[in-house]
Amino acid sequence: MDRLALVTGGTRGLGKAIAMALHERGCRVAVTCRRDGEEARRLRDETGIPAFYWDVADFEACRAGVAQVRAQLGAIDILVNNAGITADATLHKMSETQWWDVLRTNLGSMFNMTRQVIEDMRERRFGRIVNISSINGRKGQVGQCNYAAAKAGILGFTKSLALENAGRNVTVNAVAPGYCETAMVAAVRPEVLQAIVAGIPVGRLGTPEDVARVVAFLADEAAGFVTGATIDVNGGQYLA
Ligand code: CAA
Repeated sequence: MDRLALVTGGTRGLGKAIAMALHERGCRVAVTCRRDGEEARRLRDETGIPAFYWDVADFEACRAGVAQVRAQLGAIDILVNNAGITADATLHKMSETQWWDVLRTNLGSMFNMTRQVIEDMRERRFGRIVNISSINGRKGQVGQCNYAAAKAGILGFTKSLALENAGRNVTVNAVAPGYCETAMVAAVRPEVLQAIVAGIPVGRLGTPEDVARVVAFLADEAAGFVTGATIDVNGGQYLA
């Protein structure tokens, strides 16, 4: 079926792989990112996937942005809340800005974006919402009180929203990626990252495609009986 998917933070990393996986499976896809740039242009040139620009931490920007997507492309059937940032520091060194920037972007965006599409999905009696959490929202991580709090918050959000919408054929699930080959993970100090990789039973970092395939499954019509779930994609590093 002809479905429209919107992937936040979709011009690079996990978001780009998710956008491409949905595109390859026949969805129409649009992505958001904070600002115009080379990555968005490359994605559009390579795949035809358009990018829209706004800050998912800003409710009003999400309202206006989603209205623009809807006006240009039609109703949104699949929302992947992927956009996220890190601002790692141990709590005794963390600034208020580091705390709120991560909470607003990674958790606030769940409300800011989902609120714009949920009424429509309920009315149309179809929706697939996939929220990108993290292994560190499951197990905690030194230097990530802000990030882990936001990513754990996503799991409560996901379960509650799943219950509210189960009767309307709107499924809501979370994917909790482990450490993958992305710029975000590459920014971790080499000696810290080396120790982390040594603790992954599969013996390697994940690829963005490892995560994207799971998201694509959850976004499929055939996954209608899966809701409120959290799927770990972490190479066995943490078993909940
Ligand atoms: N394990 C246990 N304790 C640790 C530790 C570790 N890996 N790293 C630091 N500590 C402890 C030290 O023992 C020390 O404790 P005491 O003061 O009691 O002796 C304290 O923390 C040192 O604190 P500092 O603030 O001085 O630490 P730092 O500045 O050297 O390092 C940090 C802070 C850079 C954030 C570092 O902890 C770090 O790199 N952590 C990993 C962060 C990480 O994994 N980020 C993931 C980013 S990718 C991502 O998030 C994607 C995803 O979803 C997976």
